[in-house]
Amino acid sequence: MYNKYCTKSKQSSFFWIFSIVLIFAACRTKPTAPPYTIVQSVVEDSCMVVAGQPLASKVGVEILRQGGNAVDAVIATQFALAVVHPRAGNIGGGGFMVVRMADGAADALDYREQAPAAARRDMYLDSTGTVVEQLSKVGHLAVGVPGTVAGMEAAFNKYSQLKDWKALLAPAIKLAAEGYKITQSEADRLNKFKEQFEKYNENAAPFVRKQPWNMGDLLVQKDLARTLTRISDRGAKGFYEGETAGLIVAEMQRGGGLITLEDLKNYRIKWRAPIVSNYKNYKVITMPPSSSGGVALSQMLEMIEPFPIADYGFQSAKAVHVIAEAERRVYADRSKYLGDSDFYPVPIDSLLDSTYLAMRMADFDPAKAAVSDSLSSGNFKRVESFETTHTSIVDSEGNAVSVTTTLNLNYGSKVLVEGGGFFLNDEMDDFSAKPGVPNFFGLIGAEANAIEPGKRMLSSMTPTIVEKDGKLFMVLGAPGGSTIITAVLQTFLNVAEYKMPLDKAVAAPRFHHQWLPDEIKVEPTAIDTLERKKLWDMGHHLHEVKRMALIKAVQVLPDGKLHGAADPRNPDDHAEGF
Ligand code: DON
Repeated sequence: MYNKYCTKSKQSSFFWIFSIVLIFAACRTKPTAPPYTIVQSVVEDSCMVVAGQPLASKVGVEILRQGGNAVDAVIATQFALAVVHPRAGNIGGGGFMVVRMADGAADALDYREQAPAAARRDMYLDSTGTVVEQLSKVGHLAVGVPGTVAGMEAAFNKYSQLKDWKALLAPAIKLAAEGYKITQSEADRLNKFKEQFEKYNENAAPFVRKQPWNMGDLLVQKDLARTLTRISDRGAKGFYEGETAGLIVAEMQRGGGLITLEDLKNYRIKWRAPIVSNYKNYKVITMPPSSSGGVALSQMLEMIEPFPIADYGFQSAKAVHVIAEAERRVYADRSKYLGDSDFYPVPIDSLLDSTYLAMRMADFDPAKAAVSDSLSSGNFKRVESFETTHTSIVDSEGNAVSVTTTLNLNYGSKVLVEGGGFFLNDEMDDFSAKPGVPNFFGLIGAEANAIEPGKRMLSSMTPTIVEKDGKLFMVLGAPGGSTIITAVLQTFLNVAEYKMPLDKAVAAPRFHHQWLPDEIKVEPTAIDTLERKKLWDMGHHLHEVKRMALIKAVQVLPDGKLHGAADPRNPDDHAEGF
């Protein structure tokens, strides 16, 4: 008996050891091929979705196949991104949506986060008045009241063709409950931020586990699946009230955050009139405050329009000089005048006034760089009363949607709602914590963007739709902090002025000036050596950076087909249509 038992035991130990070795080996073996085929550039007949993760693009396409319109597709894609692109896709953040329906009617939805009621102007200053840097960037105090779920519900109520909210949530719930294979870039990020996840959370599962993440590993998010199911059952109330709201507030209390049940209940989206401007025979429809993106883009376009930059040549010193000087002046204006227009009288009409913009470029010297320290924001008489992800979609009717959404930095505040399964944003860093002190993106602000309860922090997100000769021409936008605006500008100019096909226009190297610091940031292959030297000789300072924003765009070709182009700078960007 003893022997028998012993033999059996030996056999079974051998079996178990062998199995464990096999399982371990399987876990350690990196898959040789990525789990998804990524398509960066594709031309299709009728519909196109370009998003930051292939599974999310596929969800959008599936909704279009089911008869949903571009807004239905974008809602389903946004919820899918919250699952498959957790560093930026979200339900714990906010964003902006620009819509252009096939009949030409345009609309803009602001679902940016709001400061909690207990937020104060000096909440990130110590007793000596110095900014405590990390407070607005990581941890519970960095979190603004999320807007994404309210935004998706508002877009659904106004524009859905499918009229089936649950159908839009179903793919995201499935991906969260059953899991999906993570990409290399997601695995890298999850490994990189492991320590921060552990620092700000008592339990950071499922994002933290013992062994490092590899491409192809399955990420299952049961808590998130339950949260999404509550949203599916109750709409926005499934997030801003009841169990999810309770979990968010409990999380806030655990880490000394400010958001209360009242804050969540009081969150409001805003439908706004888009900013519409003209550049030659193009009409540019883009986002008004609380993003600075649309105002800034429109200002730059009008400042650049009089210069024959196509004749100067792509990224010739002459063309770069004009564009960089326009960028410098616009970011100087941004720092003083832009903020949440519900709280501060942003002088939009004055900033977009043609006489003002011509005056602003009047001191442009074709041979010499300006000096940011001696070039502040412009003056005018006020005339009026006053890690992110982008998705571009066009449906078969010609409806177009451009959406940028964010948690701000990778995985936002790194705070995971315990039991809720989602990360909360660190959008409070987009406020000006103190006049003149730069935020994460080096942006400086003042009164217009000071912290106030209920106020929205200023953004650079620039979801944009372009018409040519009155017809839909292009849908574009990007993540990338302060470089979003200049990336959208240059991608548009690459198509409109330099006649590049869309994929080349998106991939082309870029440069960026934001007034302060007084330098042109350049991607490694941007501006060739000779032209760089000419720019130095004019007095520009060039500073090389690895990469900037990640554009996702759709262009309507002359034969009516759609060209979708994802940014090769992000290995997960994927264009798909039919
Ligand atoms: O709203 C903004 O301008 C920033 N919170 C966007 C952050 C961003 O794009 C990060 N992504 N790379």
